[in-house]
Amino acid sequence: MKIFIVGITGNVGFRLARTLKERGDEVDGLYRQPDQAGMLASIGVTGTVGDLVNIDPQRLAEAMRGSDAIVFTAGAGGAGSEMTEAIDGNGVTKSIAAAKLAGIKRFLLVSVFPEAWRERHMDEGFEHYIMVKKRADIELSQSGLDWIILRPSALKDNAAPGRSILELPRSTPKSAVMMWR
Ligand SMILES: NC(=O)c1ccc[n+]([C@@H]2O[C@H](COP(=O)([O-])OP(=O)(O)OC[C@H]3O[C@@H](n4cnc5c(N)ncnc54)[C@H](OP(=O)(O)O)[C@@H]3O)[C@@H](O)[C@H]2O)c1
Repeated sequence: MKIFIVGITGNVGFRLARTLKERGDEVDGLYRQPDQAGMLASIGVTGTVGDLVNIDPQRLAEAMRGSDAIVFTAGAGGAGSEMTEAIDGNGVTKSIAAAKLAGIKRFLLVSVFPEAWRERHMDEGFEHYIMVKKRADIELSQSGLDWIILRPSALKDNAAPGRSILELPRSTPKSAVMMWR
């Protein structure tokens, strides 16, 4: 299987790329800084240089063509509301358009669990981020693609135990953690 990762140099993206390569899958992806080529080469990935802010869907589709599935795990990561709109919002819009142009049906989106940290008082920037992620979830679910939306809460850097636990903090309602179609 060939998987194209948007956000391949990120914490989730790079770990996923390495794991898929170890499993024997083909991996490709979009990265924005030419000096990240070495990091990708170290796991046998070539990738395509491009910035989600200004890449057009046609060019992104060319990079994606031949892949069986797209994983979108890019994120502005606290770079401000404008970048949140550009990456977590429009970046998903562009990637959906590009997947369609390239004839790729399967799309997995790394979103966010909207109830995360509800026991804290989060600022406007966080609420905006949650709103943009939610809009992207809706857009993907209405896109006609075969989609999976993953909604993690805060992620940690600890070594993975090799299993997934679908468990909610006591303060959150028991709503869906993952949505499948
Ligand atoms: N971390 C968490 O606790 C957490 C919790 C819930 C949900 N999430 C979601 O999970 C996803 C992955 O999180 P993460 O922690 O892996 O994020 P991350 O480490 O910050 O990685 C973000 C990725 O997006 C890329 N990116 C940012 N701006 C870009 C641009 N203009 N053009 C192309 N690529 C761009 C980054 O590239 P560079 O390497 O060039 O910066 C990087 O590859 C995000 O969508 C995030 O919202 C994260």
